[in-house]
Formats: sequence, structure tokens, C-alpha cells
Amino acid sequence: MEKLVISGGDPLHGTVYVSGSKNAALPIIAATLLTAEPCVIRGVPDLSDIKFMCDILRWLSVEVKHHKRDGVIEVQAAHPLSVAPYELVRKMRASVCLLGPLLGRLHNCKVSLPGGCVIGDRPIDQHLKGLKRLGAEVKVQNGYVHARCDELVGTDIFMGGRFGSTVLGTANLMMAAVLAQGTTRIESAACEPEIEDLAIFLNHMGAKIRGAGSHIMEIEGVEALQGAEHTVIPDRIEAGTFMAAAAISGGDVEVKGARAEHLHAVWDKLEEAGVTVERNNGSMRVRSNGDLKAVDVITMPYPGFPTDMQAQMSAIMTVTPGISVITEKVFPGRFMHVSEMGRLGADVALEGSSAIVKGVDGLSGAPVMASDLRASAALVLAGLVADGETEVNRIYHVDRGYEEIDKKLRQLGARIERVSE
Ligand code: UD1
Repeated sequence: MEKLVISGGDPLHGTVYVSGSKNAALPIIAATLLTAEPCVIRGVPDLSDIKFMCDILRWLSVEVKHHKRDGVIEVQAAHPLSVAPYELVRKMRASVCLLGPLLGRLHNCKVSLPGGCVIGDRPIDQHLKGLKRLGAEVKVQNGYVHARCDELVGTDIFMGGRFGSTVLGTANLMMAAVLAQGTTRIESAACEPEIEDLAIFLNHMGAKIRGAGSHIMEIEGVEALQGAEHTVIPDRIEAGTFMAAAAISGGDVEVKGARAEHLHAVWDKLEEAGVTVERNNGSMRVRSNGDLKAVDVITMPYPGFPTDMQAQMSAIMTVTPGISVITEKVFPGRFMHVSEMGRLGADVALEGSSAIVKGVDGLSGAPVMASDLRASAALVLAGLVADGETEVNRIYHVDRGYEEIDKKLRQLGARIERVSE
């Protein structure tokens, strides 16, 4: 078991490079199942979630070469199998996005239900509704989704759920619909940049997708797809996390690869809090003199403030004078970081799906436990400003989504070490 040991108090300075997007790469790797021809994906971060996805594809008899140092994955799914078992799927919820491509390619598949998750109940009813609308027979039995069809047929599908449109649900439908007969129109589609990136890759493969990145998407089914090459977009959440690190530490950091257009809600909120954000072409410089003011935040589907940045923004607010109300509209129970931040001296009260954060004069280092990916990033941020030593345990959570976070922060002047126990 490894942990991160952080000695807080140093403002971060310098330049950091953002890795490729995990959440874009995962469905794109799954999409390679749609063709028997070779595909090459570049800019893939070296993360445990990517390894899990590669392991599942290998289990499905797909040839996968992962050149980790170069960030390149070569995939050829000549004759994929149709069953994704619980032992592999349970390790990563995103493996649910195998359903769409397996059904589209093989017309028959069995994918384990991904199971619970610490950030809240994560149903897949919208995914299944959409696949049924395309003409699949779908049943859930013994913990598996069984889906089959003679042929998928394009139709109109509404994808808005109680908490907005679903990102991986939209990805699943796109991947099923590209080989369907006729045209599929998805209304209330997720418009996250990762969905747009998936559409670009699928269109390189020969798909005909229009409107990706907006709420209405049209997919004209084609007979077959071919192999393609693609470079995934930079990780907007990793970029946002380094921007938050600069802000909370009172530093000056150039985040190379941060695309301002993907992070509008984040830099807008940071500016409101008193942070100086300079937008350059393909990078952002974030400066703070530590003199911040409390802001309220409401998470929303894109282009709203991302739920994946909520914990990090909360961390900033714990040391910002005044009261800030942080409201979760995407995953209403996603506040696992709150009690651990309390161990560092933060003053946060939960009220339904909101956290009321009263800024304190300072945090003090303590051992804390990471509970999920973004919660652990928030604890690392808090550790950067806490007085004394903060130990973040169970950092396999952080390693699921941040490539060498300790090394990158060290390059910015943080005193942070990875320690094996
Ligand atoms: C993706 C991201 C995750 C991010 C989330 C929201 C990946 C691998 N993960 O997750 O990092 O936090 O988007 O931006 O890309 N819901 C339903 N029924 C469904 C599907 C979802 O009710 O069938 C609900 C969820 O419980 C949640 C909300 O809709 O409350 C949004 O979930 P969704 O967009 O599906 O998240 P993911 O795609 O799983």
C-alpha cells in the first residue's frame, strides 16, 4: 500500500503538462471493438483505469499493445468475445461502455453490471432504455446485462434523466447506433468534450455523426467501420485540479494543455474567487496572492461547473474567508471528502446535497483516507496548504485518474513524497 506524504505551506510555481483525458480515452478504447481493423490511440495516460480497460479487451480476445511511455495503444479486435465478466468489470465502472460497441458489432453480448460506487447510486437505466429503443432485447439477470438483437434500427431517443443527461449512456448509444440501420436522433445528449472526442474518433472510423457536443445528435448508421488513428484531448479535470492547486497555494502556475474552452465554468469561478487566470493558446496561467473570497458553486452537466471539480473547489473554500455553499446537482451524495477534510481542521456542514463551507484561518496536517478519485485529489490540495505533515492514504484512488501527480506537484515546488508501507 502506498501513501502520499505532503508538507504544506509552499506556493506552487512553474509549468505543468496535462496528460491525455482518461474519460475520453476509455470509451474511445471501447469503440475499437466496432471494427476488425487495427486502431491506434495516442495521448493515452498511463493510469490504472486504462490498464483495467486494456485487461478487459484482452479477456475479450482482442489484441492490445499498450506502449505506456509513448502514451500509445494499438488495438485490433479481429474476433471479439461477447462476455465481460464481473471480476473485471467491477474494478472500473466505466467498463459499462462496452455494452454499446459489443451489441453494435456482435448483436449479442453479456456485460456484468458494474456495481455500487462510493460517490453515490449509479444506475444505468438510461443506457438500457436507449438500447431498447434501438430495438435490442435487454434483460438483467444474475448481475449481468444480456442484450441481443437481429438488427439495431435507428430511432428518436430522449436521454435526459433525473440528474441531466448521462455521459457514458450517451457514449454507449452512439457506439450502438453507428452500425444501426437508418438514422438515430439522440435528444438531451450529453455534450461533454469527451463525447465530442468520441464522435471525432468514430467519424474517423467511417461513422456519420452530426451534432456531437450539442444536446441533439444525429447518427446515420453505416454498414461497417474501418480502423482509425486518433489523439485524445487533454484531461480537463487534471488541468482544473492543477489550476486549483495554484489557487489554493497562492502560487503562479502555467498549465500546459489546459483548454480554456473546456474549462470555462472552472476558470470563471476561480476568477470570481479572486484568482487571476490568463488564457493562452493551449495553456492557462493561474496566479493567486492567496487573497481569495468565498463563492457559491453548483455542479451541472457540461458546460456547467463539473462535478469532477467539486471536491477540489471545496478544498479551496475551506481556507477562504467567508461562507461558501457548494451544491451537487449531478451526484447529490458526492461529499465523501468532507469528513476527512474535517480531520485537517476544515469547517464544513452537509445540508442535503449542499456543503456549507466556513473558511478557516488555516488547516493542520493529519493522516487522512482517500475515498474516491476526486475526493483524494481534494485531500492532496488541502495537504498543500495544511500546516505540518498530511498523509493521504489509499492513493490507488488518485492513481486511477492522475498520472504521476506527486512528480508533477514536486516539479512545481511542492514537498510531496510517495511512500510505500
Ligand atoms: C462520467 C464520468 C465521471 C463524471 C460523470 C458526470 C467517465 C468515465 N466518468 O460518469 O467522471 O463524474 O460523467 O460528469 O466518463 N444516471 C442515471 N441513470 C443512468 C445513468 C446515469 O440516473 O442510466 C445518473 C447518475 O447516477 C448521475 C447522473 O445521472 O447522478 C450523471 O451520471 P453520468 O453522466 O451517467 O456519469 P458517468 O457517465 O457514469
